[in-house]
Amino acid sequence: MRLHRPATYFGVLSLAALVFGFARLAISQTDPALAPYTVGEEKSGFLYATPQTRTMQTDDFNNPGFLWIDKGKTLWNQVAGTEGKSCASCHNAAEVSMKGVGATYPNVDKSGKLVDIEERINLERARMGAPAFAWESDELLAMTAYVKLQSRGTPVKSRYDRCRASILVSGQKILRDTARSARYVVPTVSRTE
Ligand code: HEC
Repeated sequence: MRLHRPATYFGVLSLAALVFGFARLAISQTDPALAPYTVGEEKSGFLYATPQTRTMQTDDFNNPGFLWIDKGKTLWNQVAGTEGKSCASCHNAAEVSMKGVGATYPNVDKSGKLVDIEERINLERARMGAPAFAWESDELLAMTAYVKLQSRGTPVKSRYDRCRASILVSGQKILRDTARSARYVVPTVSRTE
């Protein structure tokens, strides 16, 4: 059953917000309950959702994304691969070991490659001797949602700033091409290497 794609939705919004100054779009938010969703100049994608969607998202029982969270938790504890390990074998409880981790992605790995949380999960699968989860599969979305959930309430602090400027520029091009059909304006990235 595919009702919703929480991971993709959050990933795209938070990356767009961070990299392209989406956060600077003017929106008026007067409800004090929404105050925690603004940190400095950065605004959560949550603020751009309709009130109905926000209500659904703040209720874990009504939020269909939690179907994926449940699946992610099962996968976290499931042994897979030639090493005979699960994620939990090394990381124990995700609530502790993954706290705040999702908020630091996309990140730059030791080789200088920009990796998002989905790629990171598949690198971990490789460490386990297990096949990578297919892109956009329920498994990868579920694990991503589960890892990201452990950063709920944590401000996004992606380390994209450590990646090469050329990567940001090509990302900007992709977003700009996409934006043309969606009719929104993408500000220019002005960072130099
Ligand atoms: C054999 C032990 C082992 C297993 C199994 C394992 N990991 Fe890891 N994982 C590590 C180690 C060690 C690191 C940190 C070292 C590094 O960056 O390579 C790490 C790092 C990570 C990170 C990045 C943390 C950060 O701060 O950026 C994530 C996310 C992660 N693991 C998720 C998972 C998931 C999800 C699974 C199951 C699919 C899993 N791991 C399975 C050992 C393991």
